Amino acid sequence: MTIFTKDFLQHDETVFKDELVLDYEYLPHILKFRENQQQHIATIIKPLFAGRMGSNLLITGKPGIGKTAACKHVLREMEQHSEKIIGIYVNCWKQDTAFKVIVDICQQLGYKWVQNKKTNELMDEIAKILNKKAAVIVLDEIDKLKEEQVIYQLVEDISKKCIIMITNEKDFLAILDPRTRSRLIPELLEFNAYKYNEVEAILGERKKFAFYEGVLKEESFAPIIEKCFEEEDIRTGLYLLKEAGNAAENRSSRSISVEDVQKAIGKMAVFQQSKTILDEEEKELIKIIKDHSGESINKIYDIYNEKFSKSDRTFRRKLATLKENKFIEVRDNKELTGETNPRVYLKK
Ligand SMILES: Nc1ncnc2c1ncn2[C@@H]1O[C@H](COP(=O)(O)OP(=O)(O)O)[C@@H](O)[C@H]1O
Ligand SMILES: [Mg+2]
Repeated sequence: MTIFTKDFLQHDETVFKDELVLDYEYLPHILKFRENQQQHIATIIKPLFAGRMGSNLLITGKPGIGKTAACKHVLREMEQHSEKIIGIYVNCWKQDTAFKVIVDICQQLGYKWVQNKKTNELMDEIAKILNKKAAVIVLDEIDKLKEEQVIYQLVEDISKKCIIMITNEKDFLAILDPRTRSRLIPELLEFNAYKYNEVEAILGERKKFAFYEGVLKEESFAPIIEKCFEEEDIRTGLYLLKEAGNAAENRSSRSISVEDVQKAIGKMAVFQQSKTILDEEEKELIKIIKDHSGESINKIYDIYNEKFSKSDRTFRRKLATLKENKFIEVRDNKELTGETNPRVYLKK
């Protein structure tokens, strides 16, 4: 009977040896091709080991190129190396208010008495704990933080620390409150997209752990690397590996065909939309821009402000998010028309 079962999966079989390694949150043991960046982060932290003040760091770069992974790696190594420094990691997309950030930090510190306490009171408790040692605080997706006051407070209240901020937005510092900015004075570290051979090696490693031998042959793997390289986002590659595996399983096949990969690539449109979760105001802003495409930033702000009465800075931040995610385009027509107020266009 093997003749019938050889190429087909039985009902309880799978092509995945370990599907978890394709999760976006999965942290590989060794993070290749980011040695220099990890070194840079380590240099920022080093003074803390000697009991001195550390500096702050702003990490920028597009999504899916190892910014979070590099920071988590350094934190992990740091904690293995010394008990004197406490590592804190907060994702400001998930914890987007001062209170949520502070409660998250409390939880990481094992401080349980958060109920009925105000943000400021909790901040004092955190300071008490952290000021006995030194701290490295990573604030990931910092541009999603709605109340940047909390950055200022951490800078002020924690004495020996490094604040490491991560963002996709290149001009994040420009939209930060000048008071906070001048207290932070961060060093800058920019991450660039991976080269082709690097994408190939990173995905190759995941493939090895994710699938049983022989499941993903070279001819099917090649278009995945290609697409991932083109998108400059490792998550794309992980998504394609998983979806192509699922497509093969749906056919009860033991191996992933080129067609399975094509199918996965076809599904990517949906994936890319869901990569950016916009809040209600950002969606409204897109609508406004759609109806007034080509208008000046000031005009768009007036319309937005009428509806939401938000500060100019909040508006600019939302505009930056939409621009970063390629929903809109901001064109400076200065050379053409001499005007200094750029115009906003909806991308088709
Ligand atoms: N150099 C690398 N080696 C192995 N995996 C990597 C590497 N860089 C990124 N990844 C993986 O790619 C995914 C996205 O990386 P992440 O650090 O979350 O990106 P970013 O924070 O820049 O958006 C994660 O699953 C991560 O483990
Ligand atoms: Mg990240």
